Amino acid sequence: MAETEETKRDPREGFSVRDLADGAMALGQVDSEDVVLVRRGDEFFAVGANCTHYHGMLSEGLVVGDTLRCPLHHACFGLRTGEAVRAPAFDPIPRWRVEIVGDKVFVREKLANPDRKYPVGPTAGPAVPASVVIIGGGAAGLAAADMLRRDGYDGTLTMISADDWPPYDRPNLSKDFLVGNAPDEWMRLRLPDFYDKQKIDLLLNSRVSALDIPRKRVQLENGQTYEYEALLIATGAEAVRLKVEGASESRVHYLRAFADARAIVAKAKSAKSVAVVGASFIGLEVAASLRTLGIEVNVIAPESQPLERVMGPEVGRMIRGLHEAHGVAFHLGETVRSVNGTTLTLTSGAKLEADFMVLGVGVRPSLTLAEQAGLAMDRGIVVNEYLEASAPGVFAAGDVARWPDPHSGERIRVEHWVVAERQGQVAAKNILGHRERFHAVPFFWSQHYDVAINYVGHAEQWESVKIDGDLSARNCAVFYERAGRILAVATISRDLQSLQAEAAMESRIPG
Ligand SMILES: Cc1cc2nc3c(=O)[nH]c(=O)nc-3n(C[C@H](O)[C@H](O)[C@H](O)COP(=O)(O)OP(=O)(O)OC[C@H]3O[C@@H](n4cnc5c(N)ncnc54)[C@H](O)[C@@H]3O)c2cc1C
Ligand code: FES
Repeated sequence: MAETEETKRDPREGFSVRDLADGAMALGQVDSEDVVLVRRGDEFFAVGANCTHYHGMLSEGLVVGDTLRCPLHHACFGLRTGEAVRAPAFDPIPRWRVEIVGDKVFVREKLANPDRKYPVGPTAGPAVPASVVIIGGGAAGLAAADMLRRDGYDGTLTMISADDWPPYDRPNLSKDFLVGNAPDEWMRLRLPDFYDKQKIDLLLNSRVSALDIPRKRVQLENGQTYEYEALLIATGAEAVRLKVEGASESRVHYLRAFADARAIVAKAKSAKSVAVVGASFIGLEVAASLRTLGIEVNVIAPESQPLERVMGPEVGRMIRGLHEAHGVAFHLGETVRSVNGTTLTLTSGAKLEADFMVLGVGVRPSLTLAEQAGLAMDRGIVVNEYLEASAPGVFAAGDVARWPDPHSGERIRVEHWVVAERQGQVAAKNILGHRERFHAVPFFWSQHYDVAINYVGHAEQWESVKIDGDLSARNCAVFYERAGRILAVATISRDLQSLQAEAAMESRIPG
């Protein structure tokens, strides 16, 4: 139910039970806090209406079982506890006591959040390890460390990261951070004192150079060694680098780490024109952000439509039109043949001016450590449904992991933020012996100007694309199907439909 600031009711005055159908929600306000009243069967719950990730309005989300899902990036909260059950949110939402009197439901006083520390209670598997080492301080690494402590793990926990910053919001590097709308403090996934408080030994600027699996030991480039009883490999991916004939290194940029984004921001301050090489999600998000800053942007890519391989030609055309409407010039079916100063020569012979270039030509999972350690590999680290790699006590999560996806029936590896975080969370639970299967439906989003694309499922190849709605009006759901089965759904301006598609895919998985 859409409510404006003025019309939001105070749910302490009571809602008629009959007005709220099963699964429906009503938005209200208590002492200037937005509260959403949710009906689930004969039960009612009152919880905070703002998602703790990026303040998505939960009243526009979806109730699935005992959970409430956020419409923006699909965070999942427990209705009974307020707990952030699944990333990308990490913090719980507040709760209020609810009372039914006659045919009215009243929201009463605010409840204290339950203690987040649960006793460690392995239901199966090995004993709880005395020490855990996480290699990688990104999405999967942080989510795992957070969940280990949330689940009451009190052993030694070391997170080793080659990054120069504590875990940060990597997807934002190409979005608000590049535009200048997100100051550094917003980029942190956790406040600076989190690591001390949670006794997480976070080593920054520290690269693991070797992994000794028989001895259960990792070695850093500086020679230091750390022993572990359980290990999580969450080394993510690195940008694919291209040699561009004649281009000086100072004019060629990639975007993976915070330092890369800072370098682009510094260059953008005085730049008039930029060439984005590669029409990937990251390349196009960079194009959108730099256009927003008023910089002339040329996108050069070999394919005939941007994002065609992942989203099909229909969506590709729409994305291209969107960028063109914002002044981006595309040079498709082209690559850069050579560079001389600020002049680029394309394969067609066309010449372009660019103060600098951003290469967004894909990423490659960071697998060297795992390969050298002799773990089973298949274009990624092979893990089972519990995210265990081929050696006991070794887990992998995020961009590096290839797992058996029960939805597609295939072993897949993806590069999605929320998947990496959720895998980190499940790996943490399994390090503690809970034997939880990873069966989340893959989800990613991408933002171009004011247009967000949400995508659930996984479709590497499909037979047909069905569009519900109007792609040109940027209000639609796109279904990717094979053998009569929906493999994936991309939505634009249809957040609820995206959540519904995710829930439908979840329900196809037994147990
Ligand atoms: C600019 C940008 C925008 C993106 N936007 C989106 C988006 O909108 N939506 C979406 O779903 N996904 C997006 N992604 C993808 C998403 O960020 C990744 O899928 C996600 O970060 C993967 O998490 P991860 O933990 O596997 O790896 P990462 O987050 O990359 O973390 C890997 C960590 O491992 C460290 N590391 C690597 N090797 C070593 C080593 N040998 N020793 C120690 N540390 C090491 C790295 O320093 C880093 O800390 C984006 C990515 C980028 C770069
Ligand atoms: S704002 Fe709710 S998941 Fe991002």
